[in-house]
Amino acid sequence: MDLGLRGKVVLVTGAAKGIGKEIALSLAREGADVAVNYLSSQGAAEETVGEIRKLGGKAVAACADIASLDQVRLMKEEIERQLGPVYGVVNNAGYAPAKKFFKTQPEDWKRVVDVCFYGTLHLAYVFVPTMVEQGEGKMVNLVGDSARMGDPNLIISAAARGGVISFSKSLAQDVGKNGVQVNVVSLGLVDQGYLGFSEETLEKIRKKYPVQRTGVPNDVAAACLFLLSHQSSWITGQVLSVNGGYSMMG
Ligand SMILES: NC(=O)c1ccc[n+]([C@@H]2O[C@H](COP(=O)([O-])OP(=O)(O)OC[C@H]3O[C@@H](n4cnc5c(N)ncnc54)[C@H](OP(=O)(O)O)[C@@H]3O)[C@@H](O)[C@H]2O)c1
Repeated sequence: MDLGLRGKVVLVTGAAKGIGKEIALSLAREGADVAVNYLSSQGAAEETVGEIRKLGGKAVAACADIASLDQVRLMKEEIERQLGPVYGVVNNAGYAPAKKFFKTQPEDWKRVVDVCFYGTLHLAYVFVPTMVEQGEGKMVNLVGDSARMGDPNLIISAAARGGVISFSKSLAQDVGKNGVQVNVVSLGLVDQGYLGFSEETLEKIRKKYPVQRTGVPNDVAAACLFLLSHQSSWITGQVLSVNGGYSMMG
């Protein structure tokens, strides 16, 4: 099936490794030109770019802290200079340290909100106006199921990402008339290779999933590609669960 992504420029945040890298590579396999955003993983980002180029695709490594509006603006200028106007943004970057609320210090909260919530606002504020001007564009924001179900160990990021869901719905209502769709992908546990859980713990977690397995990065990439494609042009403001049935919300 042609997803209509050939030659489209898509930015994937946090794409040096893990789920973001798989999304970037999957986009490249569909012929998209990919901006591989990273914060600290420069070497891994350059490797991802190299893998995309080996596939015959165009890619650039784009360093920016999405918590900084200025850095996001500079990143946009650089991507446009090297690849052209951005058609799609997959906001995969996240900062979600696991800790119970009363074990955190108040000064820990801000960075989580700055990355998970303000990062989404910054990307939308900087990239969506060009999509509106072009009369087409897609933003896909990744959250964890904790944003809808709660999680005492991820209490601040869950709250920030609950905000991402309502922000995405409101933005979708605003820009739908301009041909721009905004959707959310809500994840269960995805084994990206560095979860750090023992096999025994992972086995216990798998049993909680109706499909009896945790996710793999390609499960997420497939959903993102669909939401970026023209096949999803009547879908906006939605939360797509990619979670092996861990939560089932209508
Ligand atoms: N894996 C799971 O089970 C799971 C479950 C639910 C939700 N999620 C969410 O899904 C996304 C991908 O998960 P993952 O496990 O593959 O990755 P991850 O290891 O949690 O982080 C993804 C990337 O985010 C980047 N990042 C962090 N802060 C940033 C900032 N301020 N600006 C730009 N980039 C920043 C990091 O880039 P650098 O390495 O370059 O610093 C990192 O590589 C994350 O948002 C995560 O919270 C994951």
